Amino acid sequence: MRPNILVVIICISVITLCSSCSPVLRGPGSRPTTAILGAFNKEIIMLEEQLTDKHQQQIEGMRFVTGRLHGKPVVVAWTGIGKVNAAMTTTLLIEHFRPAEVIFSGIAGGVNPKLAPGDIVIAAETAHHDMGILGEDGFYNRGVINPLDGIRNPVYLLADERLLKLAEKAAEQVELEKITTTVGERSPRIIKGVVVTGDVFVASPEKGAELRERLNADAVEMEGAAVAQICYQRQIPHLVVRSISDKADETAREDSMMFQEMAAKNSAALIAKITELLPSESPVEKAKKK
Ligand code: ADE
Repeated sequence: MRPNILVVIICISVITLCSSCSPVLRGPGSRPTTAILGAFNKEIIMLEEQLTDKHQQQIEGMRFVTGRLHGKPVVVAWTGIGKVNAAMTTTLLIEHFRPAEVIFSGIAGGVNPKLAPGDIVIAAETAHHDMGILGEDGFYNRGVINPLDGIRNPVYLLADERLLKLAEKAAEQVELEKITTTVGERSPRIIKGVVVTGDVFVASPEKGAELRERLNADAVEMEGAAVAQICYQRQIPHLVVRSISDKADETAREDSMMFQEMAAKNSAALIAKITELLPSESPVEKAKKK
């Protein structure tokens, strides 16, 4: 082969290789990207609509939208419903965007009787409610072995402390629309609590009570602990935020249809505020300068 043809082939290969790599959004002195996930379109569309410098791409058939939210680089995606879809999308996201942190926004069934549609749970802990051992004396939760280090995962996956503090600060500042009830208007409550995850939509008061009793759950959903587990195993800070769309009881399906838009909006509003409060520099960059 003539040397100049070889040079052309090498150049084309390098260009092709580089263009197939997803950009890690990082400008000079800026922070690496923050990933924001939701299970379905309604859960993230309100955040996606606020993005500037928006750029959309398909990876393995999944849609990822990069841009800036309150000036911070973010990548937004919806995972699809359930734990397997959530784990798949989180892994793709980590591989292609190397986010500094992963935040999940969405709706949930409330199993804490004090919670009503529109209220928000900031998950200090998430747990798979359907992972464990079913024996003669009933079900008990047990984490699986992390295949990356051979150590058993804890039942409760802890949210990142820094993100949790930021979320609490955001909760004090965020402005949420009042909720109209039969007895008048009220402001949505925001609590820190336990969110449990399983591959089932819970529409059973008995199951809801059992989740509260067994795991001290405040809310139940279908993706949070899967995202948290992937982040835990890959040592990436994470946070799950859920707003209540129903009470996981007999009327959960109808209630969820009725309140999901309002709940998704409340969760997205808190996530937007958290993003606004993120420091412009990543903690790692800041430490390097000292
Ligand atoms: N997401 C919203 N409501 C839910 C419920 N009741 N069970 C599981 N996931 C949910």
